[in-house]
Amino acid sequence: MKNIPWAKPLIDKNEIKHIKECFVNDRFTQGPKVKLFEKKLQNFLKCKYVVAVSNGTVALDLAYKAIGLKGNDEVILPAMSYISTASAISYQGGVPVFVDIDPLNNCIDPDKIESAISKKTKAISFIDYGGNPANHKKIFNISKKYNIPIIHDGAQSLGAYLEKKPLGANGTISTMSFHMAKIITTIEGGAVFTNSLKYYKKLLILRNIGETPSKKYHHVMLGTNARMTELQAGFGLAQIEKLRYIIKERNRVAKSYDAIFKNISFVKTLGKLRNAKNANFFYPIMIPRRDLIAKKLKEDYGIETRVAYSMPIYAQPMYKNQKLKFKKQRCKNTENVAKKILNLPIYPKMKDADIKYVGNAIIKLLSFNNL
Ligand SMILES: Cc1ncc(COP(=O)(O)O)c(C=O)c1O
Repeated sequence: MKNIPWAKPLIDKNEIKHIKECFVNDRFTQGPKVKLFEKKLQNFLKCKYVVAVSNGTVALDLAYKAIGLKGNDEVILPAMSYISTASAISYQGGVPVFVDIDPLNNCIDPDKIESAISKKTKAISFIDYGGNPANHKKIFNISKKYNIPIIHDGAQSLGAYLEKKPLGANGTISTMSFHMAKIITTIEGGAVFTNSLKYYKKLLILRNIGETPSKKYHHVMLGTNARMTELQAGFGLAQIEKLRYIIKERNRVAKSYDAIFKNISFVKTLGKLRNAKNANFFYPIMIPRRDLIAKKLKEDYGIETRVAYSMPIYAQPMYKNQKLKFKKQRCKNTENVAKKILNLPIYPKMKDADIKYVGNAIIKLLSFNNL
């Protein structure tokens, strides 16, 4: 039986070369490689300031600290995302306000944002679900109209484009993750992006336990240790050299899946906005009897899948029963998608034969179950 993983980073000799340099230079903690990695990200994403950090969750924590989110401040966000999009708000004592997704692309429904705005709204946050661009234009127009900053959780956005502009660093403050399964990886890692010098200066201090850059052991605000190591940055530098190839490969795999499922009525795939280019971090399908199909794919075919995400964030035990404060709108689309979504294997160098194997297994299982 085959063994097809859900994700597989593209790691080769290039990573070893960069890691070796850390040993040759005898430099392992935040230093020139981190700086260079920041520069490369800055060039790719066309953003003024980049602060590399230890992971994508901490990147969000710093973003909310930088804008001064405090107890009872509200942040509007999609009900469907990875937990960190919401937990970072709660971590500062803020109140997530969950709104529904647009089933076209599983991103926040921009037409539901305005009705969630209150006097306490301190920020609007969103993701590009699985690299599928959200409606940035509408979201940013609302942000301008009400003068509310955007915290863009771009953890899944690297490689996505809207009107030919790369996504991931477009918010008042944006964040990214370089976890092992992400488009590029530093094993664990993340970054914060901004075009504001004021926030940049604050982020640098927050990353380094509140220490002012001008004076050692002089701490001017409450921060944390969110520094990236040279080893991580070395990994990232090797990865970023392959970024365009990685994006191309992910697009190839997605296109093949699209062709396989095109005329299969019981497999629903996502659409996208006009002028949007999907990074294809996920390849989601919406199917009936999802849990049974996922189990059979694993047991009978050796195919790994992921359910991202099996419930709206407000249904997570940490929020349920108001253990943590939150507000929500009616999220019918999120609840519906959570029951049906299945994310298929997608990674660079995935063989055509394996893509067909996955596609055919799904079609066969669904046909067999007479659905
Ligand atoms: C949308 C989103 N936000 C935040 C994160 C958190 O990133 P990390 O795992 O690097 O902490 C992830 C990672 O899975 C994510 O997908």
